[in-house]
Amino acid sequence: MTEFEITAYTRDGQVLTFPCRGDEALLAGAERQNIVLPAQCRKGSCGACTATVRAGSYGLGSLRPNDGGSLARNEREVLLCQATPRSALVVDLPYDHAFVRFEPVPERWAEIVALDRVAPGTERMQLRLQADEVCGSAAEFAPGQYMEILVPGTAEWRAYSLANNTNWDGHLEFLIAQRPDGLFGRYLQRAAVGDRLRVKGPSGVFTLQENGLHPRWFIGGHTGVAPLLSMLCSMAAWGDSHPVRLYFAVRDGGELFLEDAIEELRQRLPQLEVKYCVSRSHRERFHYGNVLETLEADLRSAGTPPDCYVCGSARLVEGVTACARNHGVAEDRIYHERFVAT
Ligand code: FES
Repeated sequence: MTEFEITAYTRDGQVLTFPCRGDEALLAGAERQNIVLPAQCRKGSCGACTATVRAGSYGLGSLRPNDGGSLARNEREVLLCQATPRSALVVDLPYDHAFVRFEPVPERWAEIVALDRVAPGTERMQLRLQADEVCGSAAEFAPGQYMEILVPGTAEWRAYSLANNTNWDGHLEFLIAQRPDGLFGRYLQRAAVGDRLRVKGPSGVFTLQENGLHPRWFIGGHTGVAPLLSMLCSMAAWGDSHPVRLYFAVRDGGELFLEDAIEELRQRLPQLEVKYCVSRSHRERFHYGNVLETLEADLRSAGTPPDCYVCGSARLVEGVTACARNHGVAEDRIYHERFVAT
């Protein structure tokens, strides 16, 4: 099979080159050369491997970034886990060189140290990493990144965003929507403190961006608040002065969780505004309605367009992206992470 030369530019201008066969996806071609580009599901569902083709021709595979939605920023966006080359290609990657690995993603053992139900159907799982010679005992990650967890008794990995801040103690915190029919959900029904889990990471490019002092608006659907809480924790730890707002979106008021922890965060980050957006149940004091309607009203009256960070279902991400675009938020100031139901 013919091989083509692929040239990939990272956002900070570094160049990667690798050969890729015409019958393999660009992501796989890079990995054959030990270039590990950010990706998550590898099935065309999450959009984590989106890149833009600057020159050359390609096959789209079975899917594109805008399939079923409006996330594509232009016609030449592709999913690297799906697209195959038909000529030499030049590709722009939407992240810095620091996010590219040249060795497999590190795997470690961790132990469950706490497991508690923070709302009906939502578990908070806290792990402590086992110290090893390569990584020591630290849990080092960029706020917003995720870890993969090997589901015990299977060969399947599941990705969950970290909800806490990087630390020296090996502490990892996850918020997990418990789907009884999901593979990890079934494990959670029998999980216990003391269980050892194999974890891999950190990974992901949904991280805080330095864009001057633009306001930051974080929009999280249900457990999609996890990476946003991680970002807020780190902003609080740094004494960050960006104006910042959190929209915590759920369907029903009973699904809200960690309100005390969020209030504590607000004490440490005084400029933080929090809007609990509840779409179905009656409105209580301090609760807003549908998140998209609330966001739209706020964007209409916002002075400076904010940087928008959104994490949640594809529907939420697409809705927020369209709303932000319509109200003048630049394409490259909308950062998103889509959940994949597994
Ligand atoms: S890794 Fe390509 S779409 Fe998820």
